Amino acid sequence: MIPEKQALIYEGKAKQVYSTTNPDDVIIRYKDDATAFNGIKKSTIANKGLINNEITSLIFEYLAHKGIVTHLIQRLDEREQLCKKVHIIKVEVIIRNVIAGSMAKRLGLKEGMIPPNRIYEMCYKNDEYQDPLINEDHAVAMGIANYEELDRIKKAALKINQYLYEFMDNIGIILVDLKLEFGKDRFGNILLADEISPDTCRFWDKSTQKKLDKDRFRRDLGNIEEAYEEIRDRIKQALRDTTW
Ligand code: TMP
Ligand code: ASP
Repeated sequence: MIPEKQALIYEGKAKQVYSTTNPDDVIIRYKDDATAFNGIKKSTIANKGLINNEITSLIFEYLAHKGIVTHLIQRLDEREQLCKKVHIIKVEVIIRNVIAGSMAKRLGLKEGMIPPNRIYEMCYKNDEYQDPLINEDHAVAMGIANYEELDRIKKAALKINQYLYEFMDNIGIILVDLKLEFGKDRFGNILLADEISPDTCRFWDKSTQKKLDKDRFRRDLGNIEEAYEEIRDRIKQALRDTTW
């Protein structure tokens, strides 16, 4: 039985979280609001919430088939998902397959450079300090998680990156980088949470290198909704053709 939506308990830049009649579940509502540079640039992107809800649901379902434990229970409608209630661990985990964005800028590297390794980064999830880059010792010192939990997060994140990289590669998309968030349920399980969408990944078309993600908004490249739809449609098509 699907629990009923109750009070708004949290509102972030792109989503709202509601309590439900089941204390272990929440309803997450995807908004059309878009921000960049820690909220300095603000706008709305038509239908972004609908598209990101659908993309995240499809990707999380795909990852669940691969054995990844996620917070998603089911997509409820165009804007909402029923999810397990978790405490978000205050780190944003970034994995880079191709150099771009802040790494290119910070280290003076050319965007598009392919490194010989996978690059794993952690940022402290805190807008006031602009989500600064931290390492595991910082995270432990700040009480964000212990070493064993951070190790579990890193292993899961690298697996998720590998699964998604291969999946996107098959539909002609390069997964340049992605940002993941994890949460802990009341039993201490660590689950993949938040979203995986063009807001939180860089997706480049393999043949044209066209950017199909939030960089279109960050860099004023236009046709944002079309780019997000393109990602959604290619993922949908691939999953339609999949027999599990
Ligand atoms: P970056 O190159 O700006 O550090 O971004 C790396 C990846 O993380 C990119 O796919 C976009 C995503 N990201 C978020 O999801 N949220 C953020 O606040 C930032 C800065 C990046
Ligand atoms: N999510 C961040 C913000 O809302 C930054 C970004 O995605 O570029 O400002």
